[in-house]
Amino acid sequence: MQYRRMPIEIESPEQMGYDKIRNNLAESSYTDACLRDFLAADAGGLGGSAAASGPVLADLLLCYGSHQGHEGLRELIVKGSGTLVPDHVLITMGAAGALFIIATSLLEKGDELIVVHPNYATNLETPRAIGATLRTIELRFEEGFALDIEKVRAAITPKTRYISVTHPHNPTGACLDDAQLRALANVAEEKQLYVLVDETYRDMVFGPQLPPAAEYSPRLISISSLSKTYGLPGLRTGWIICRDARLYETFLAAKEQIHICGPMLDEELAYRYLLHRDKHFPGIRADIKEKFALVKTWMEGQEDWEWVEPRGGCVGFPRMRRPESVDIDKFHELLLNKYGTYVGPGHWFEMPRHYIRLGFGWPAKAQLQEGLAALTMAIREATIVY
Ligand SMILES: Cc1ncc(COP(=O)(O)O)c(C=O)c1O
Repeated sequence: MQYRRMPIEIESPEQMGYDKIRNNLAESSYTDACLRDFLAADAGGLGGSAAASGPVLADLLLCYGSHQGHEGLRELIVKGSGTLVPDHVLITMGAAGALFIIATSLLEKGDELIVVHPNYATNLETPRAIGATLRTIELRFEEGFALDIEKVRAAITPKTRYISVTHPHNPTGACLDDAQLRALANVAEEKQLYVLVDETYRDMVFGPQLPPAAEYSPRLISISSLSKTYGLPGLRTGWIICRDARLYETFLAAKEQIHICGPMLDEELAYRYLLHRDKHFPGIRADIKEKFALVKTWMEGQEDWEWVEPRGGCVGFPRMRRPESVDIDKFHELLLNKYGTYVGPGHWFEMPRHYIRLGFGWPAKAQLQEGLAALTMAIREATIVY
């Protein structure tokens, strides 16, 4: 493995210091939740009570836990599915842990991977670190960042081990539909390969929700986590859903070699949160909707910016309409240092820097509005006058 730090992590808000950013439009998750609020929903509190959904937390035994992960949590993850059962679920250290386990289980040096680009950096970087060859499928602004399954099919070679897609997509917010997932399942079955569907943002689709991709075929592997929709990235709790028993066993072996089992406390908290999902989620959904409407209205009045409207998630990937007339370094410098506003620059996604990832789910509405106004001002001030 050849590890290399990724710009999206080096320059992340948490590494920079949250206190240095007034309007944080660089996040890809919903507002971080506070432990106090969600334990209140559980009626447990740290001390616990009779109404809590599990043992008083202080009594939680900090033993090695189930290697597959908290049983109740795995049940909740597949609740309501006619196809998926808890034994298809492997709890991982965030979706990032799931991606690592999958890449290192399926790829060897010299293997090929078909992967959409732009992308969340880890989806590209771990396969590279392994020494795999990436065949990228470009998602283009002019095509609404839509995935063309025929291009995926055409990129398959005898060395292809898996296809990696994301729904909803980070950074664009583009979504797959039922027909595309069916087509991917057909391709995977026909060519005897796997499809990784990164569904970390699935609960945040704006329209009707598709089932987890793993329901479509044993060759489709779903991954997700509690980080994005619920603002719980600090719990480091994600999962893989895989119906192929042999492959599941390999993923479990990988997990056992990395960290044996997950943290008991995180998994217990994740379980209690999901158990009361219905208390948390409607408010989150309504808030994201309002924030999305703010960005949409702002975007409609823009002469300097354009975007493909996201169809899910809480990020979009706008770009400057006339990048040739903007000093882009100056723009980013003004945006942060004069206006206290931070966005994800295009290079986090191996794209030109006149694209920005705009996260609208994390900041409070006042900060979002201030951040949007800052984008308008910073681009004007960075415009080159000939
Ligand atoms: C598409 C995608 N997958 C996976 C992750 C990893 O998330 P986590 O490990 O916090 O669950 C991210 C984080 O930004 C992401 O955007």
